[in-house]
Amino acid sequence: MSKILYVSSEAFPLIKTGGLADVAGSLPIALSNLSEDIRLLLPAYPQVMQQTENVKQLASGTYYNFKVSLLETQLPNSKVPVWLVHCPAAFDRPGSPYMDSDGQPWHDNALRFAVFCKVAVDIAMNKLNLRWQPDIVHGNDWQSGLIPALLQPCKQRPATVFTIHNLAYQGLFNYQTFLDLELPAELWHPDALEFHDQLSFIKGGLVFSDRINAVSPTYAHEILQPKYGNGLSGLLQHRQTRLSGILNGIDHSIWNPATDPHLAACYDTTTLDQKSVNKLALQKQFDLPIDAKIPLIGMISRMVEQKGLDIILQGMAEMLAMPLQLVILGTGDIHYEMQLMEWSRKYPERLKVIIGYNEPLSHLIEAGSDLFLMPSAFEPCGLNQLYSLRYGTLPIVRNVGGLADTVIDASKQNRANATANGFVVTHQSSTALLTTLKHALTLYALPEAWRQLQLTAMNGDFSWAHSAKHYIELYQQALADRDQTAD
Ligand code: ADP
Ligand code: GLC
Repeated sequence: MSKILYVSSEAFPLIKTGGLADVAGSLPIALSNLSEDIRLLLPAYPQVMQQTENVKQLASGTYYNFKVSLLETQLPNSKVPVWLVHCPAAFDRPGSPYMDSDGQPWHDNALRFAVFCKVAVDIAMNKLNLRWQPDIVHGNDWQSGLIPALLQPCKQRPATVFTIHNLAYQGLFNYQTFLDLELPAELWHPDALEFHDQLSFIKGGLVFSDRINAVSPTYAHEILQPKYGNGLSGLLQHRQTRLSGILNGIDHSIWNPATDPHLAACYDTTTLDQKSVNKLALQKQFDLPIDAKIPLIGMISRMVEQKGLDIILQGMAEMLAMPLQLVILGTGDIHYEMQLMEWSRKYPERLKVIIGYNEPLSHLIEAGSDLFLMPSAFEPCGLNQLYSLRYGTLPIVRNVGGLADTVIDASKQNRANATANGFVVTHQSSTALLTTLKHALTLYALPEAWRQLQLTAMNGDFSWAHSAKHYIELYQQALADRDQTAD
């Protein structure tokens, strides 16, 4: 059993903007079930405080002149302790954890997450009298990137693991910010936190962690190439022996069509006919023509370039000329939101666009759709295609990252050996997307073939069972690497 401090800037159900929250809200539970002694460290945003009960203060201190207290609560429906960094000046503000109401990053993000990282470092070095010092500090994404950099010179430090959920978000700030944060001067170096004259939080994780992993094997491989490396492929090549890929799992207690409370009708592989009740509910809710037979395509996504919205928009006219319905839920870049709304005004009987973030609706869309659209330009892992598989909603995906690791195309051969579970677009173009979509619609017209694909999808096992064990191995490797470095 190891003591693990799991550091994340979001965790479901306390606070969520994307897949990181799903992972941080479920992997610690899986590790705890494997008898690891794990604590989750999270900023005390107002949304988090509203949901927590029996909060206990563990410690307090001052960081960058801000008063900070460390509070303890529990991850709902689990035994995992959550430690909250309660710093009202940094985290007690409405809205998104990362952005203001204009969609701009909070002006003081560097300071906010530097506070967060420094508290983590003090816990790691047992400076808060908690009588619990971790063996491993496991950080996620740029918001926890400073931790390995600050721990590196410390004697008797825990081993560090850093998980890359998305290399496109790096936490870049100017040199003045580096000075303002009073970081050790030697960290201003291209072999440390400097990145083209900027301060890079993510480099702290990539340069200094004992072990790095990406959230799928294919993405771990892709980021070694400039095309997917966001300027960091050289560094990652240099650290290649410490880099691996571990596929995310999904939380079966939350994403399970047999028990999901957000559905109009629950179902499993033996009651698959009930799935269409959800489709009718979706059509009714969004004033689409009620028709059990018409293929319904769902999409739930942050509306950003990563998610393939360009090729969807380019192909939209042709797509909406086909006999199908499309329901899109998401929020993000305003120009994507506006173009999609425009299309939905023109084709109200074909396309429904819901701008916003809506957790219950996302479950109903997963259940009520026949196909799920996710033609990402890159995708570190992707969770929505995994939820889709579990709900018998066949995903249409690009062959990149975690999508390539989880979706097997319905080619003739893959169908013959019953491994096919979705549809794979092989180029990032609207033409390729439309070709794949047409193929999907052809198979949709063959109920028996379709049902076989659904059953293969639903029977796949993407639970945390395997991946959590891989993380335990990774922790062991990190401990060994740390000891070697210390010699
Ligand atoms: P990413 O983390 O890049 O956004 P993932 O597929 O890993 O992509 O995870 C996205 C998660 O966020 C899923 O749980 C998805 O259902 C959820 N999600 C994204 N947009 C919305 C939305 N508008 N409403 C509800 N849930 C959303
Ligand atoms: C990121 C990635 C997504 C991944 C998620 C959780 O947001 O974009 O692909 O599934 O993190 O690891």
